[in-house]
Amino acid sequence: MSSAFKAVQVSDSVWWVGAIDWDLTDFHGYETTRGSTYNAFLVIADKITLIDTVKKDYTDELLSRISSFIHPSRIDYIISNHSEMDHTGALPEIIRTVQPEKIFASAKGVATLKDYNLIGEHNEHLLEAVKDNQVLDLGGGHTIRFLDTKMVHWPDSMFSYLESEKVLFSNDAFGMHLASFERYVDELDPWIVNYEATKYYANIFWPLSPAVSKAVKKTRDSIGVGNIKVLAPDHGPLFRKQKDMESIFNSYDKWIAGEVKKHKVVITFATMWESTAKMARAIAEGAASEGVDVKFCPLSRTHRSDVSTELLEGDALIIGSPNLNSGIYPTVADTLTYLKGLKPASHKLLGGVFGSYGWSPASLPQLSNFLEEMKVEVFEGPVKTKYAPSKDVLLEGFEYGRAFAAKLKEND
Ligand code: FEO
Repeated sequence: MSSAFKAVQVSDSVWWVGAIDWDLTDFHGYETTRGSTYNAFLVIADKITLIDTVKKDYTDELLSRISSFIHPSRIDYIISNHSEMDHTGALPEIIRTVQPEKIFASAKGVATLKDYNLIGEHNEHLLEAVKDNQVLDLGGGHTIRFLDTKMVHWPDSMFSYLESEKVLFSNDAFGMHLASFERYVDELDPWIVNYEATKYYANIFWPLSPAVSKAVKKTRDSIGVGNIKVLAPDHGPLFRKQKDMESIFNSYDKWIAGEVKKHKVVITFATMWESTAKMARAIAEGAASEGVDVKFCPLSRTHRSDVSTELLEGDALIIGSPNLNSGIYPTVADTLTYLKGLKPASHKLLGGVFGSYGWSPASLPQLSNFLEEMKVEVFEGPVKTKYAPSKDVLLEGFEYGRAFAAKLKEND
């Protein structure tokens, strides 16, 4: 069939029919500088099965890729591993086009698909809830085993494992926001893959680590990483080499356990008239002089979701703000609010505070309170300056950074 968008074969009976979103820049406040993909898959069995769909805007691309291989009306079953709209936005149109025999989802997934009005009342009879470990026979020797993976990423989330060809469709898990024509991790720059996988975990899964831990354990116990031939998440590239799969599982183990790179200090701040920036530089110099790894993240050029990515493997956070209208500067408040939601103190964090003001230092205790609410241990301080920092204040900042780093090393 002639189609501009082609299906890509993943295993003997599985074809990738997803969409590439080159333009995506934001996913719920997470900056997606490299775009994303919405992966969907066709399993060619007696019952031809579509696993997940794509964001609504990419419905035509999904249909085009399916049509490059089979007529969409030949699809019998749809499996919805997760009802968030990046995987289900196309569902109403797909249901109209395909007229499937059944739509399978977890019990929570069935409820959410209805709540989002994605099925249509007249089609609700097509929905069938599946349970953890339930096996669906697709005919032709192909079976799918469902794994309940609730809260990875929503209460409805599940994995589907095609036992016959050892393909694990893991939905959001093991994914990354990365648009590319390369379909596999081993075809891409390892540094980029590692950064984007880390960024995805930090910004999507960090607060859900206990649920991710259960899903990873369940996958190891009931399937085994060695029994996965293709690991197929719904975002970014797929994994087909055992070493790459082991690597991502090992990274997940590390992030779940809250393992950090020892003595990694993330310094983030905003500035109005360079006073807070000068203090930040002095504190960073002091910390670096103690040999710790300093990640310098001015919010003028660092997105909140890159600060969180650095912090995932960090053990310290120093935050600075000028006072503005008796409060924290907006970009700093934004970043702190975002970080607080990610529950970063699931691993032990040492925190520090600094800032500048004109006549009211009200923002400084607010910064400390924020860190305390995040259950971050706040080191002595804050370092503060009225208007512009003098040489003495900069020296104080240097000493603060040095003492902070020494305390971090002491905490070992
Ligand atoms: Fe990719 Fe939770 O959706």
